[in-house]
Amino acid sequence: MILLFTDASPFARKCRVLIEELGVADSIELRDVGALSPLDANDMACAQGPLGKVPILIRPLAASLYDSSVICEYINYANQAAAFPVEGEARWRALRLQALADGMMEAAVAMRYDTSFRKNTPHADQWHERQTARLLASVKTLDERVGSFRAIPTIGEISVACALGYLDLRFGNLSWRRGRQSLEKWFSSFSERPSMVVTAPKTPNINSTQELTLETI
Ligand code: BEZ
Repeated sequence: MILLFTDASPFARKCRVLIEELGVADSIELRDVGALSPLDANDMACAQGPLGKVPILIRPLAASLYDSSVICEYINYANQAAAFPVEGEARWRALRLQALADGMMEAAVAMRYDTSFRKNTPHADQWHERQTARLLASVKTLDERVGSFRAIPTIGEISVACALGYLDLRFGNLSWRRGRQSLEKWFSSFSERPSMVVTAPKTPNINSTQELTLETI
């Protein structure tokens, strides 16, 4: 199998962290498609799916899979692993955490692109404020729930770590750690896991030029 990825994508990192956590890196070739721009189609990604997005998992003699949630569930299933609890409240806890983290990634990536390409459009400030509010409210919720995080990570904890890693990569000026010591402590420890170390973006930290602070959250 081949996983198409790009270095800075938090969604692709989620798949890569899971692969490392499950110890199945030998069975999945990682192929970096290079830096992506939302303005240009990527030929490798478009050849595998109509959305032309990465990550994509190319399977031999079977359809390619996207998006990151589907890829992760497939890798977990194919390896009979336990990162997706199969039943009970444990399953809904892990999936809800994943959904929250994915929502954070979506808001942050959209804001990153908007800052890069569409500065000074009508409602831009209002839109950025809304995304910032969503991110900071999510961080607050995670800080409150960190006591329920599992020592053996599920897809929920992995997704949260990748979302926070992306905020550090692109939105250092969001200062998400302020007043969120529990989450900060958890993330600092989680970041030392080999799966996080080997998947750390090589892309230099470049912060959004937009000032991102909402004191009201
Ligand atoms: C980024 O450069 O921040 C980025 C690139 C690809 C996907 C998501 C984010």
